[in-house]
Amino acid sequence: MSRRRRMIFKFGVTVIVVIAIYMYYVIQKDKDSIDGQETGTISDDSDLKFYAVNKDESKVPHAADKSSTGDTNGKKDVEAMKAVQLQDSAVEHSNRTSETFKNGIHLSVVACGDRLEESVVMLKSAVLFSQLPLIFHIFAEPDLQQQFRDQLDIWPAEFRKRFQYHIYDLSFPMEGTSKPDEWKTLFKPCASQRLFMPSILTDVDALIYVDTDVLFLSPVDNIWGFFKSFNSTQLAALAPEHEDAAIGWYNRFARHPYYGALGVNSGVMLMNLTRLRSSAWLQSMMNYYKEYKLKITWGDQDLINIYFHFYPDQLYVYPCEWNYRPDHCMYMSICHSAEKTGAYVLHGCRRVWHSDKQPAFKAVYTAFKEHHLGIDIQYGLLEMMKRYLELEKNSNCGKVKHIFLSQIEKYTTEEKKSTR
Ligand SMILES: *[C@@H]1O[C@H](CO)[C@@H](O)[C@H](O)[C@H]1NC(C)=O
Ligand SMILES: *[C@@H]1O[C@H](CO)[C@@H](O)[C@H](O)[C@H]1NC(C)=O
Ligand SMILES: *[C@@H]1O[C@H](CO)[C@@H](O)[C@H](O)[C@H]1NC(C)=O
Repeated sequence: MSRRRRMIFKFGVTVIVVIAIYMYYVIQKDKDSIDGQETGTISDDSDLKFYAVNKDESKVPHAADKSSTGDTNGKKDVEAMKAVQLQDSAVEHSNRTSETFKNGIHLSVVACGDRLEESVVMLKSAVLFSQLPLIFHIFAEPDLQQQFRDQLDIWPAEFRKRFQYHIYDLSFPMEGTSKPDEWKTLFKPCASQRLFMPSILTDVDALIYVDTDVLFLSPVDNIWGFFKSFNSTQLAALAPEHEDAAIGWYNRFARHPYYGALGVNSGVMLMNLTRLRSSAWLQSMMNYYKEYKLKITWGDQDLINIYFHFYPDQLYVYPCEWNYRPDHCMYMSICHSAEKTGAYVLHGCRRVWHSDKQPAFKAVYTAFKEHHLGIDIQYGLLEMMKRYLELEKNSNCGKVKHIFLSQIEKYTTEEKKSTR
């Protein structure tokens, strides 16, 4: 088909979609005036309703259609447009219940704005070391969705078959709110999305949620293993926000309740969705938001802290090497357990991947970003990391560079042993 015809076709589809959105809003509005006051319980997931941000304009045809560009016909595109909520990845990976992935690790991320690149690097770090198959749940703004597909689909086949992915619009439950728009307008949509994963991913039992600025330095299987350590009341796991009260944030500045002595950091979170769904989670978030909205600084992380302040028995706390941040080394090394084992999961918060404020963190990120899947990990990644870190050895975090290297060194050593 000629480029011109295709453009005309796309324009036509856009017009249809715009009209559809308009109609949807009109219908929604009517419906809301009927059931607007409903604040149901969340125990019965079957009638949870959702509304998406930027609805249907994001429904681009999925990756599987792309390979057949030559014969992409109108019907096919329209069908893809109709696809609801879930947009599956390439055909051979689209069976969510297939045996291979049944016992896989579910990993979720929410990407908006300029966070695409670092999200893809994070996913690369996950697939690089992991043993179990991975199921990615990617919530993204419409204009990022196709870019995610394009990038993930070109990974080498040997890695491509180890994961499947699902891409979703940002969406918010209508349940538990008095106005349908309420959640969407609470914070930036991206920030609050993860609070609602239990009610959106209703067929997922458990997942690990990470911020886009996270890197896995060891197999995701390791952190996933903490689920086995949960007792009967625990439904999530997080690392402390701080190790040292002298520089802690919550203990010095927070004007709302928070977990424990120094609060928890929400960037790397194990969530047992099954348990969250049958807990007071969703309703509590709404209540806390109403009560504390003028006092919270860090958005959803503060709400999570408030929740576990009131329900401390529901939280499993893993140590700082599972969410290793610049705070742990920027003045002096305060995450002592990481000095022994190295960091398992690195969290480049406050945009340190991209700035020169914490050069050791940037060095690690740069090595991951430049690494091509399929190239030898020792020579393609580890040696580059060492070289970049060596240049930053005088920075405070650079002084403890073994924290960044240990787990990958361990991985490559074991890999060598097993192939011998
Ligand atoms: C998905 O996999 C399951 C289990 O292997 C199988 O029963 C089901 O028929 C498959 N569905 C599709 C659409 O292929
Ligand atoms: C999550 O909790 C449910 C209900 O207690 C349990 O059956 C399931 O095994 C848990 N999932 C994980 C990954 O531990
Ligand atoms: C589970 O562990 C948490 C944290 O140690 C604790 O507060 C809670 O009481 C424990 N629950 C049970 C049932 O033992």
